[in-house]
Amino acid sequence: MSGSRGEGTLVPVRTKADLRARVSAWRAAGETIALVPTMGALHVGHGALIEAARGAADRVVASLFVNPTQFGPQEDFAAYPRDEAADAAFLTRADVDLLYAPAVAEMYPDGFATTVSVPGLGDRLCGAIRPGHFDGVATVVMKLLIQAGPDFAFFGEKDFQQLVIIRRVAADLDLPVRIEGVPTVREGDGLAVSSRNAYLDPAQRAIAPALHGTLQDAVRRIAAGAEISLACEEGAAALGAAGFDKVDYFACVDARTLAPLAAPSPPARLLAAAHLGRARLIDNIALAL
Ligand code: PAF
Repeated sequence: MSGSRGEGTLVPVRTKADLRARVSAWRAAGETIALVPTMGALHVGHGALIEAARGAADRVVASLFVNPTQFGPQEDFAAYPRDEAADAAFLTRADVDLLYAPAVAEMYPDGFATTVSVPGLGDRLCGAIRPGHFDGVATVVMKLLIQAGPDFAFFGEKDFQQLVIIRRVAADLDLPVRIEGVPTVREGDGLAVSSRNAYLDPAQRAIAPALHGTLQDAVRRIAAGAEISLACEEGAAALGAAGFDKVDYFACVDARTLAPLAAPSPPARLLAAAHLGRARLIDNIALAL
């Protein structure tokens, strides 16, 4: 049957109607459903989301949609890595039950005009550098949640601001879904696994783990009593010294509201974003206080 597990590779379901029919049949059989939204270019980080989803629900739906509305005009939408066959094979091996891969016209038909926006959360940190990005994310994720109607949805903590925003929107719009964060998967040298790591050349790849290392140093310094603003300033300078081309931010925030913290107070999170060649890398870690 189209879109299902069984013999061979998953065949994508392309329409909302087919997705709803499949999910309704599972619901009628008393089964629970988890959604793992992705933009493809799947890697072990997505594998961790799927594993968590499999542990939580009877059925796992993965969506594959490179969402145009979350890319700025100068960003890498056209160049974003796309290989649906490889992604379908990955999801089949990961034991996903259904692959939902709608076309842009299915997601945004003619006349589409609604945007989900979260002022205060969506316009700081990455949102200040990528205006409109989180409106695009929040809008497509809400659409996917409404289309699939899952009990759970899984997102990586690597995109921490995205996770906080999606939690906010789901709560504010009374969606009956549990939004679950999954810890960042890292390479052996600490670099957070990301589809955009593919943009790094070997010299840049050698520099990239400094993003995580510098965040860890700052966490240690703040825990030992250093002033937050100074630790963040020095963290940004350390990234420059390590070879990053440009630092967008190095910040310590309240992990629920993303408001900047002047003094340590839990739950706190340290986040950074920096450019290395064509790649813009982001990472974050919890500040245990
Ligand atoms: O994190 C991502 O891959 C995307 O932002 C998401 C959540 C699939 C929405 O397009």
